[in-house]
Amino acid sequence: MVSWSVRTYEEMTYRVHGTVDCFAGENELLATVAQLRPGARRLVVVDREVDGLYGRRLRDYFAGRHADIEILTLSAGEKNKELSTVYEVVDAADRFGLNRRSDPILAIGGGVVTDVVGLAASLYRRGTPFIRIPTTLIGLIDAGVGVKTGVNYDGRKNRLGTYYPSIDTILDCSFLRSLPARHISNGLAEAIKIAIVRDRTLFELLEKHAVELIDTRFAVPVADEVIAHAVGNMLGELEPNLLEQDLHRLVDFGHTFSPGIEMVSGGALLHGEAVAVDMTLSTALALQRGMVDRAEAERITGLLRRSRLPTRHPACTLDEAWRALEETRRHRDGALHCPLPSGLGRAEFVENITRDEVASALALVGGALAWDEQ
Ligand SMILES: NC(=O)c1ccc[n+]([C@@H]2O[C@H](COP(=O)([O-])OP(=O)(O)OC[C@H]3O[C@@H](n4cnc5c(N)ncnc54)[C@H](O)[C@@H]3O)[C@@H](O)[C@H]2O)c1
Repeated sequence: MVSWSVRTYEEMTYRVHGTVDCFAGENELLATVAQLRPGARRLVVVDREVDGLYGRRLRDYFAGRHADIEILTLSAGEKNKELSTVYEVVDAADRFGLNRRSDPILAIGGGVVTDVVGLAASLYRRGTPFIRIPTTLIGLIDAGVGVKTGVNYDGRKNRLGTYYPSIDTILDCSFLRSLPARHISNGLAEAIKIAIVRDRTLFELLEKHAVELIDTRFAVPVADEVIAHAVGNMLGELEPNLLEQDLHRLVDFGHTFSPGIEMVSGGALLHGEAVAVDMTLSTALALQRGMVDRAEAERITGLLRRSRLPTRHPACTLDEAWRALEETRRHRDGALHCPLPSGLGRAEFVENITRDEVASALALVGGALAWDEQ
């Protein structure tokens, strides 16, 4: 028999736009990216909470453009991030009679809704365009700007997923005004992550302004600068390695132990909170190795505390931390590639972490250096 080898590549292009109050009648951005000509048909999938808060303005916006929309509302939260929710989107697309090339699906909500709709869009007829409007801070600076979609499966985070960019993402901080403070802190964890591994200026901005950013729900002038740093660095890190061909990823800082710990906590820890617990443990590992000094480690945990994030949690036992690390090693194809801070705004990859090292780092977090008690 003859053999063939086929080679091709697919270019990925997508845009991320910032705006203010995207449902204001005079704001043209959404109408432009969603091509809302009179008579245009759009399936709009909205987080149920967001629909309650912004649904009237959303409907008025589309009505003002004489667009015909069908709205599907989804419940957010980790327990709804599952395949059955993907099927809800697929069923709605079928009912709606979606035109696969020219009718982008709109996904409006937090990371759960944008991840679920992204997965549905990537699967529906092998790929249907979609547009994201993230409404949480995690969505604005992380889930809404990359290309990963996914749902949890069998108690494992994001076990099923695809790499599939939305054609456009609209970033609008006005949605944060209604977001509970805990979810602002939750999103700040991802900003702190990117600051620690690549952007000392952002770290210092957050040290100075974290409290007012939480208290005002990002309604302060510095908010734009923080978002610009966080998103710019995130995209700078993702763009050369969008499909994760290289498993050395600085954005994985805080994501070595956290996926396991988040699931084991049974919903007690939000994603960013689990990342904060992981970042503290990882910082303790870095301190033990002399990669950061005590003052730097305390600035990191001080910023987490100021951002009202946990630095430890009962779910993060030695057994669970070790199980999570082993699972992460498998996820990274057998090599750990664990990013640890090597200063503020810098990180290096570490390959060999022993169970004893994790045990003493945990002791450091909870004992002699109980940073969160000071
Ligand atoms: N795809 C990626 O690259 C990526 C990156 C980071 C995180 N994530 C995923 O994102 C998820 C976490 O995202 P999340 O924190 O946005 O969770 P979420 O989508 O569950 O939203 C959090 C809560 O906020 C509510 N909400 C959303 N917008 C609101 C608003 N403007 N005002 C008031 N309430 C609002 C939601 O109804 C929900 O109760 C996790 O599943 C995580 O795995 C994905």
